[in-house]
Amino acid sequence: MTKQNKPTTASQQITQRKQDHIDAILKDTQIERNQSGFDDIRLMHRGLPQCDLKQIKTATHFLNKEISFPFLIASMTGGAAQNLGNINRHLAEAAEACQVPMAVGSQRAMILDQAAQPTFALRQYAPTAPLIANLGAVQLNYGFGLDEAKRAVETLEADALYLHLNPLQEVIQPEGDTNFSGLADKIHQLSQQIDVPIILKEVGAGLSPQDIELGLQAGIQYFDVAGRGGTSWSRIEAHRADNPLGFAFQDWGLTTIEALRMSHPYQSNAFFIASGGIRNGIDMIKAVIMGGRLCGVAAPLLVPALNSTENVIQCIEQFKREFTTAQFLLGAQCMDDLYLNNALIMPKH
Ligand SMILES: Cc1cc2nc3c(=O)[nH]c(=O)nc-3n(C[C@H](O)[C@H](O)[C@H](O)COP(=O)(O)O)c2cc1C
Repeated sequence: MTKQNKPTTASQQITQRKQDHIDAILKDTQIERNQSGFDDIRLMHRGLPQCDLKQIKTATHFLNKEISFPFLIASMTGGAAQNLGNINRHLAEAAEACQVPMAVGSQRAMILDQAAQPTFALRQYAPTAPLIANLGAVQLNYGFGLDEAKRAVETLEADALYLHLNPLQEVIQPEGDTNFSGLADKIHQLSQQIDVPIILKEVGAGLSPQDIELGLQAGIQYFDVAGRGGTSWSRIEAHRADNPLGFAFQDWGLTTIEALRMSHPYQSNAFFIASGGIRNGIDMIKAVIMGGRLCGVAAPLLVPALNSTENVIQCIEQFKREFTTAQFLLGAQCMDDLYLNNALIMPKH
């Protein structure tokens, strides 16, 4: 579908929207905000790390599966267009090759349009890697419920379901769904009915302590803080809607580091994923030290995924080399030596 052929149905509009998001990211370098807070954290280099680089263990567990290092291919896309299907296939094949988890973009497109479904049928490309389905939580206030959630999970043969929270994005979108009232109760109901874990995520403005408390009360044990500082959805939607409000709010929200810091009181009750502006393996190390058991990366994988599976693999391997090197230089032999280990951060004077 091109912009010349104006989309008419709701499903065509969603596919066009996914294309617009990619175009906006490729055209406007300032959608990447570079403000996620990772640079403010300095790590305690060890001149005598007392470990062997070759013996560094990066493996960890997620959703009862072993993964090679705490990296997650964050939710991006899917829809009734060949390039969107290719992106998902490349990401899924790379997830399997690298043994890391992968999440898909919102599956609302396939609920509204059967033609989008094959772009989410990814288990054939990733037989063992953890796969995560995705729907907008607000859709629970717009007619979606258990049936739609089950279809999303079954199509992907997913290990978990992301419910994304994107109130800022919905405000800026001309077609946005902005009724978020009573949503925590609906999330609670769904979490009791569905037989995979639900993960609550933001999309780049961060989850606050109040959000986490509501989530815990709703029976949620997995959270992706998805803080600000990387991809700005407000700025993306500002372009699409020609809406200056989106530029005014382009840096709204909690940075990923702020959100992680505020997650500390809840760390013993829940599993936290860090995402939003994670751009290399050193950011990943900092995120794990700050309480992220897994690090989600979206925008840096977009261009590699438009090209090939091999390009995505190369990108993930680069993150892994950086992560392993940083781990060695901190004298941290395994993930347990990193997670919430404040001693690895230089004190501020
Ligand atoms: C092209 C693109 C499409 C995205 N689509 C979705 C989506 O459909 N659902 C969702 O939950 N998050 C979506 N996201 C948000 C990411 O999963 C992530 O939360 C956010 O972009 C922050 O990560 P980043 O700074 O590494 O890009 C998308 C991100 C990108 C770059």
